[in-house]
Amino acid sequence: MMATALAGLPEKVSIYEVGPRDGLQNEKAVVPAGVKAEFVTRLADAGLRTIETTSFVHPKWVPQLADAEELLSVLPRSPELRYPVLVPNERGLERALANGVTEIAIFGSATETFARRNLNRTVDESIAMFAPVVDRALAEGLWVRAYVSMVCGDPWEGDVPVEQVVSVASRMMDLGCSQLSLGDTIGVGTPGRVTALIEALGATGVGTERLAVHFHDTYGQALANTLAALRAGVTVVDASAGGLGGCPFAESATGNLPTEDLVWMLDGLGIDTGVDLAKLVATSRWMAGHLGRPSPSRVVQALSPGSETS
Ligand code: HMG
Ligand code: MG
Repeated sequence: MMATALAGLPEKVSIYEVGPRDGLQNEKAVVPAGVKAEFVTRLADAGLRTIETTSFVHPKWVPQLADAEELLSVLPRSPELRYPVLVPNERGLERALANGVTEIAIFGSATETFARRNLNRTVDESIAMFAPVVDRALAEGLWVRAYVSMVCGDPWEGDVPVEQVVSVASRMMDLGCSQLSLGDTIGVGTPGRVTALIEALGATGVGTERLAVHFHDTYGQALANTLAALRAGVTVVDASAGGLGGCPFAESATGNLPTEDLVWMLDGLGIDTGVDLAKLVATSRWMAGHLGRPSPSRVVQALSPGSETS
């Protein structure tokens, strides 16, 4: 299909791939570190340049990612590949630094309930936990991203007001983070809400050059929300190969925006991502084989006649 441009969109979009971390963290059966390493390597070979690989969180909280050290020790390094990891606290940062990490992400919540369930902290306590992490990371020359979860709604608290999200996000960015990723963790958002949130953040000084968007496809809104964010000026989009994902601490969270669905839309709009869709689809089909079920991505399914798991 010929690409057809649409006015008001960026020429280039950077995809921040979260499959190995956000995608796999919810899988019950532990995926061996060797398979994870091959997953990351294949994603890089498909043209993804930023791949969130794992988390330095408590291994009892996320057993799937307890092999963070082992995984990082076998991943191929190259100056053009960025491998950010999730770090919640100083203990996590120690582990990350000991393993040669140069990019980290702290992850806060716009709501009190999810902060407690995900971090065992109130919102205030979690920001107090992040502050020394960011200070030390910056002193060590690391790049730091801040995630804010539940930016459109929360399974326990319902709708989350824009001002509440802006307040938590500003406090996290004030710690000194370079990028803010807006997480619609349970996928309830719609394009008007996304646009309003981006505008409200801009009005408080967090402009689109520092924003990324992180959508889940629970209600089928992830691509519509992405398009709204691109129109508002965002150029970094989080996605998960094959649509893997969910969140072990938020039951109504289903898969992330599938990277393939995103690339299909951006290819169709003539927007450069550097990603080879055929290689990416082959990677997700291979991973689906390891996980024992087909990928939920519509594009992976459409480009996999016959069988998705071969
Ligand atoms: P806690 O139980 O309050 O921990 O958990 P603590 O600070 O009381 O420490 C207890 C023990 O854990 C201590 O050991 C620490 O050393 C150890 P002890 O002295 O008793 O022997 N410990 C650690 N060990 C290894 N690595 C660490 C670590 N930290 C403490 N980093 C904690 C607090 C933050 C650690 C815990 O709640 C945790 O690990 N949470 C992470 C949960 C998680 O990863 N959730 C999924 C993230 S996905 C998300 O947030 C959404 C996102 O994807 C965006 C979206 O989708 O919208 C980003
Ligand atoms: Mg996610």
